Amino acid sequence: MNEASPAGSPGGLDLSRIKTIDGVDVRGKRVLIRVDFNVPIEGGKVADPTRISRVLPTIAKLAHEGAKVIVLSHLGRPKGVISPETSLKPVADKMKELMAGTTVRFIGDCLGEEARNGLRTLRPGDVAVLENVRFYPGEEKNDPNFAKRLAEHGDLYVDDAFSSAHRAHASIEAITRLLPSYAGLLMMAEITALGEALETPEHPVMAIVGGAKVSTKIEVLTNLVARMDTLVVGGGMANTFLLAKGMKLGASFAEPDFVHTAKDVMARANAAGCAIVLPSDAVVAKALAEGADWQVCPVAKVPQDAMILDFGPDSVAGLKRRLADIRTVLWNGPLGAFETPPFGAGTFAIAQEVARLTQEGKLISVAGGGDTVRALNEAHVADDFSYVSTAGGAFLEWLGGHELPAVAALARNGARA
Ligand code: 3PG
Ligand code: MG
Repeated sequence: MNEASPAGSPGGLDLSRIKTIDGVDVRGKRVLIRVDFNVPIEGGKVADPTRISRVLPTIAKLAHEGAKVIVLSHLGRPKGVISPETSLKPVADKMKELMAGTTVRFIGDCLGEEARNGLRTLRPGDVAVLENVRFYPGEEKNDPNFAKRLAEHGDLYVDDAFSSAHRAHASIEAITRLLPSYAGLLMMAEITALGEALETPEHPVMAIVGGAKVSTKIEVLTNLVARMDTLVVGGGMANTFLLAKGMKLGASFAEPDFVHTAKDVMARANAAGCAIVLPSDAVVAKALAEGADWQVCPVAKVPQDAMILDFGPDSVAGLKRRLADIRTVLWNGPLGAFETPPFGAGTFAIAQEVARLTQEGKLISVAGGGDTVRALNEAHVADDFSYVSTAGGAFLEWLGGHELPAVAALARNGARA
C-alpha cells in the first residue's frame, strides 16, 4: 500500500474536508457552477449527452432551491481563441431540451458586457450557460485575473466537473481562492466511488487494465500493483507483457521499448503479492478489419503473419472463474480491438459477467475512460455496473496515484472555512 495515502485520501488529501452543497442556503444567490460539457458535437448538435445528463441533478437542485445558476465549462481545445466550432451553444440547446420547465439561457461570452447584461436579469431558479471559458487564454493558464473576472459573476462556486479535475485551470483552481467553494453531487459521487474502489475497497480487489499501450499507463500499472490483489492486463498492452515473458507474437502490436517497464511491473506485483493475469489464448487475424478471417490459438503459438486482437475463449473462461472470488473490480481499458467486430467478444463477455455479478450483489464494479464506457454501452451493461465514471484523463490520473488539482483545491477551501 502507498503509505503516503491514508484510506480514502488520494495523495494524502483528507476528502472529509470537502464541503458539499447539501444544506447550503442558495436562495437568491448567484451560484457559479463549473461543469464538464466537453461532449462530442456532430453537425452542430450534441452527439452524446451523457456528461450533460450526469450533471443535471446538481443544476436542477440548485435551481429548485432558488439559486441563479450560472454554468461555466470548456469544450474542446480552442486555445484561447474564439472558435465557433467549439461554442457551447449546442450544449445550451440540449440543456433546454433536457430541462423543460426551467428557463435556460445561453450567453455568448463568459466575460464583459454581454455576460454582465445577460446575467443581470437572471431570476432565482433560472439557468444561464456562459460561452466556452477556453476562448480566453487565462483559463488554461490558471490566471488569477481571469478567475477574478469570472468570480465577479457569483456569490458561491460549485465544482461538478470531476472529469476536468486534473486541470489546474482558472475556472477550476484559481477561482476557489476567491469564492466559497463546494463540490457538486457528481463530483462527490465520483470521488466517493473511485476512492472506495481504489483506496478502501472490499477485498479481494481486481483491476482490469487494457488499451493499446503500456507507455501511456506506466504510473497506473505501478500504482495498481501496490493496491490490488489481482491485475488483469488486456488489449495491446498485454502483448508487451507477453514479450517480456519471452514469447513471440507474430505480427502483433507491442512496444519492445517498454518490455523493461512490463518486467518492472511484474517484479513489483510479485513483491506486493498482486497476481498478474495475462491472456493464455487469443483471437488472431492477419488484419484488423471487420469480417477478417480469424482463428483462436494459444498466445505461445501465434502464427508469424497473424496478430492478437482479442482475449481467446480460454482466457475469458479463466477470467470469469477468477471473478467468482472477487469483491471489487476497477476497470479501465478494453481487452481487445472491440470497435472492430468480432474482436469485441472478449471485452463484452467480461463486461457482461461483471455486470451480472454486480446485479447479484456479489461485486462492486467501477469503470472509467472513454473507450471503456463505449465498450460497456455496446455490451448494454453500463447501467448494471456499480459506478461508471464520466472521466477519462482524470480517471487515469487518479488511478496513477496523482493528486487532482480540483480535488485538492476543494479540500483546501474546506479546511480554511
Ligand atoms: C476530458 O474530456 O477529458 C476533459 O474535459 C478534459 O479535457 P482536456 O483534455 O482538453 O483538458
Ligand atoms: Mg480528453
